[in-house]
Amino acid sequence: MRSFPAPSPVRPMAVPVRDPDWSSLVARHGSPLLVLDCGVLGAQYRALADALPGVRLHYAIKALPEVAAIESLAQQGAHFEIASEGEIDLLRAAGVGPRRTIHTHPIKRPRDVVAALRFGVTTFVVDNAHEIDKMVAFRDRAEFLLRVSFRSPDARCDLSRKFGCQPGDVEGLLARAAKSGVRIEGLCFHVGSQSATPDAHVHAIDACNAMIRAHAEAGGRRLAVLDIGGGFPVSYDGNAPSIGEFCAPIRRALSRLPAGTSVFAEPGRFLAAPAMTGLSTVIGKAERSGIPWYFLDDGVYGSFSGRIYDHTSYPITVARRGPTRASVLAGPTCDSIDVVAEEIALPELEIGDLVVAKMMGAYTSASATRFNSLPTTKILVLNRPSRTVRPARSTYGDGLGSWRRSGSVRIDPGSPGRHTRQRPSPQRARSKRTSTR
Ligand SMILES: Cc1ncc(COP(=O)(O)O)c(C=O)c1O
Repeated sequence: MRSFPAPSPVRPMAVPVRDPDWSSLVARHGSPLLVLDCGVLGAQYRALADALPGVRLHYAIKALPEVAAIESLAQQGAHFEIASEGEIDLLRAAGVGPRRTIHTHPIKRPRDVVAALRFGVTTFVVDNAHEIDKMVAFRDRAEFLLRVSFRSPDARCDLSRKFGCQPGDVEGLLARAAKSGVRIEGLCFHVGSQSATPDAHVHAIDACNAMIRAHAEAGGRRLAVLDIGGGFPVSYDGNAPSIGEFCAPIRRALSRLPAGTSVFAEPGRFLAAPAMTGLSTVIGKAERSGIPWYFLDDGVYGSFSGRIYDHTSYPITVARRGPTRASVLAGPTCDSIDVVAEEIALPELEIGDLVVAKMMGAYTSASATRFNSLPTTKILVLNRPSRTVRPARSTYGDGLGSWRRSGSVRIDPGSPGRHTRQRPSPQRARSKRTSTR
């Protein structure tokens, strides 16, 4: 069994003590504007690292594919999760090396693998027999995780309909990989984004635990890695549990894994969502069937795209005070689906008023379009790490290869929430529909 210490008390989410002066930022940089605070990203990373001690955190770049975000998480010691060549370009731009990175797309073209290998990534994911056969060409240069599907009725975006093999198919796929020399080093899963409870994680960990043990008992190659994916929730409406509470049962499930199992996670939303605020301006107003409509200069084809793809409503505030009425906030395009919020209680707004939307970091600008030939919203970065500071060397070392060479993570019981690692040698130092992401 792995031994996990109790985490240190989870720090409160580090939103700035006082918000910046949004109006003056808009006066200076224009509207609409997204404001990314790298300090919040760092605080989220530390909170999750404290809640999941001993787990190697790979930031899922797709949530907020910004160089500044990658740079600041790299400085915290984060590893990275990618699924495309464009994400490799972002890592390059941020000065992050390949060995901190895993490529997790279960379905990829040989040229995608070649691009990742050229960059230096050596860990990939497969989830079916065709993909295993496709990877035979790369078997000497790459190692793999097998993705298992665990459907998640309580997650906002179920990511296990499109990807992952059935648990009952794991043994057969492991046997096929072994026969063709494709090295499967462990299992992975994603129980769905914005999980309502930790139950799906716990169920998936326990199920993978049983598969890992059964495979070992049957004399199979040791499955030394379990990647528990993303899904760690944030509070859009103030109702989500703290990350410490959410992760407590997950830690207990992880402690039941065979000793020496290396555990990865791939958080996207939890790190990114609270780090960005959307600022937009009322550019028009009308009364439609007795309901006030306010038209903004950003909408669901832009930064509020997560309203469609991610099924998310963002907490919205305005500075104006007064009696409120159920109102509609609409975006700037000609499409009637472009509605940001309905039945939202608002005082009477005036043209030129600022609308502030919090928790806009994850799956927002990432999926924005240029419909109606409108420009995508500018991102203003606050507390950007200095480019002269090189990303900190990770607590854990680099890729899967070095992980295996260096032994498994050891938890220092005297220092809860702190990770240390055994050194090998002195030389090495959505309706629950499937997300379209
Ligand atoms: C493979 C993979 N890993 C990680 C993530 C990030 O998930 P989350 O934002 O729920 O943490 C995603 C999200 O789509 C994903 O597809």
